[in-house]
Amino acid sequence: MSTTAVSELISSSDHRFTYGADYNPEQWSESVWLDDVRLMREARVTLVAINIFGWAQLEPLPGQFDFSRLDRVLDLLHENGIGVNLGTGTSSPPPWLAALHPETLPMMADGTRRHVGGRQAYCSSSPIFLERALGLVEQVAARYGAHPAVKLWHISNELGCHNAHCHCAVSASAFRVWLEARYGTLDALNEAWGTAFWSQKYAAWEHIGTPMLTVSTGNPAQAVDFMRFSSDQLLAQYRAEVAVIRRHSAVPATTNFMVAAHIRNLDYWSWAGEMDVIANDHYLDHRLADPTTELSFAADVTRGLSGGAPWMLMEQATSAVNWQPLNIAKGPGEMIRNSLTHVARGADGISFFQWRASVQGSERFHSAMLPHAGTDTAVWRDVVSLGETLERLAEVTGSRVVAEVALVFGWQAWWITDLDSHPSVEVAYLDQVHRAYAALRANGVTVDVVEPGADLSGYRLVVVPALHSMSDAVADGLTGFVAGGGHAVVTFFSGITDETDRVRTGGYPGALRELLGISTEEFFPLHMGESVELDDGSRATIWTEKLRTTTAETLASYLDGPLPGTPAITRNSLGDGTAWYLATSLDAASLAQTLGTAATAAGVATDPASAAAGLEIVLRRGERGSYLFAINHGLADAGLTASGTELIEGREVDGTLTVPAGGVRVVRLDSVPAEGGSEGDPTDGARNDREEVRELL
Ligand code: GLA
Repeated sequence: MSTTAVSELISSSDHRFTYGADYNPEQWSESVWLDDVRLMREARVTLVAINIFGWAQLEPLPGQFDFSRLDRVLDLLHENGIGVNLGTGTSSPPPWLAALHPETLPMMADGTRRHVGGRQAYCSSSPIFLERALGLVEQVAARYGAHPAVKLWHISNELGCHNAHCHCAVSASAFRVWLEARYGTLDALNEAWGTAFWSQKYAAWEHIGTPMLTVSTGNPAQAVDFMRFSSDQLLAQYRAEVAVIRRHSAVPATTNFMVAAHIRNLDYWSWAGEMDVIANDHYLDHRLADPTTELSFAADVTRGLSGGAPWMLMEQATSAVNWQPLNIAKGPGEMIRNSLTHVARGADGISFFQWRASVQGSERFHSAMLPHAGTDTAVWRDVVSLGETLERLAEVTGSRVVAEVALVFGWQAWWITDLDSHPSVEVAYLDQVHRAYAALRANGVTVDVVEPGADLSGYRLVVVPALHSMSDAVADGLTGFVAGGGHAVVTFFSGITDETDRVRTGGYPGALRELLGISTEEFFPLHMGESVELDDGSRATIWTEKLRTTTAETLASYLDGPLPGTPAITRNSLGDGTAWYLATSLDAASLAQTLGTAATAAGVATDPASAAAGLEIVLRRGERGSYLFAINHGLADAGLTASGTELIEGREVDGTLTVPAGGVRVVRLDSVPAEGGSEGDPTDGARNDREEVRELL
């Protein structure tokens, strides 16, 4: 969780957004560097990440260091008032490491190695790799730890992006050490892994390996433990690098997370507490049906990782990336909309990959702040415009997003829900999470994303999509929240197993039968492409289940499909609260309607009309004021009620704010006082925020 204010990284007296990019001067001659810093100043760049892939430049042969070029880069940036986010340089070892120590190369689940020529070609459990990497960090930290340009340490780069799971003998041995620490005894491991099944019982620790490819399906508990172990190994690398830095420098440290739809290798909930600043890399993913909604979701996840505090967007693209099958360029205003959506959702720093577009290497056709075509380009003009806009929005930094709905999301839940040998391959965890998120967004509802087991007490409504494995503590927390007056919506395939993924018997969902007032005897997944109709007019796909209510009331039942007449949507009163269960995968419109009804019942402010007009509205509240962000994704101008000062254009708004098609407006509101300025119970500040926002919207 963040311990350092992003807006104070550059200067503690002058709060402002960090703005910049990855800068890879090693790819260019020094004459180009002068052009770079001149243009960085023109774009109002304040922070660049350097030395991300610097290892082979700094240590061309083992133990032979050459810092001359990096010295000059740091000095040049400093002379030009540009702060440095200094990479430790360990993300990609030079080719000599694998030549000397081929055993440091990562091994896949099929037993084949991966080789040099790309990046991140190392086994994160390798003591040889770690010794060499920490040797480099020692040199870099000792040399630059006191350099005035250094504002932030950038540990490695996207740890685990490509090499999260290594199956070599060294990794297997480290996995066993991790398992011994987790389980203590072989008996406990055999019990937790359910090894009585298929003659898998282990008689000695050294018989246990990583979950390499098997001729049949494998052991699910082993697979999930390996994911946990792999996440922990990379976190250990992070910690080890920071420990070296701390001998030389007190400057805050972070690494760039990948909260993304296509990467799920690390459990960032367990990493977040180790970061001085939470930073994320986000790229629009055009393989998804709705990349823009996923952007908002990822931003909200990142804010959740930061405990609600402002965070940094460490990388995004000015336009197209190079690594999707079709690399779609951004349309007019899209990059600025994307950037300000991150800001609306709590980012106090915006950076890109990368500063100047490469002319060699596999990322030549990835966009950059400075495109191949130069400065007479739409991309460059937007880059300069965004720099100016962030300066105008400086007072927003430090403020926090106001939300009254929590969405429960976890990486371990993702790993477990998506294991093989489940009733339907169509139940994909992230899809279900995205669907719930999109349905809330369609109601104009701002969401905090929280981890399973988080304190829910500040929220009116909690949505729990497809949380298949649930510990008693998580189930009890949810039940207590509802009994205390909260509203919860739980969707199908939740609460089925415990934290070791052992099925809870006696009727599904074993962890939540009492909370939901239902009991299910059998799952009836639908055929691919099949849909069912409900008697409230909804349609649904993927899933049905033979459910009977115990204390819940039935809100909708199936008209057709395998279980006509069976409850599909239920609602249960428990204590002072209400728990809804969605036993099927409602289509987008029906899900939006159902979650809108639940939100309204919970007393949450909704605004489906603005959302339908393409407006994304988020409120940030801080010491200097309350800021309404209105992002217009639509093709027509849109209006909403607001009074205050619009900060991008510097105009007063008196009652009606018009947001141009494709544009963004940010209003410091007159009607919502700054943090600490609200009337009412001072112990209930968050609630007061929400009351005021509700009135406002
Ligand atoms: C990641 C990496 C960068 C670059 C970008 C391209 O975010 O950290 O080095 O490869 O992807 O999108």
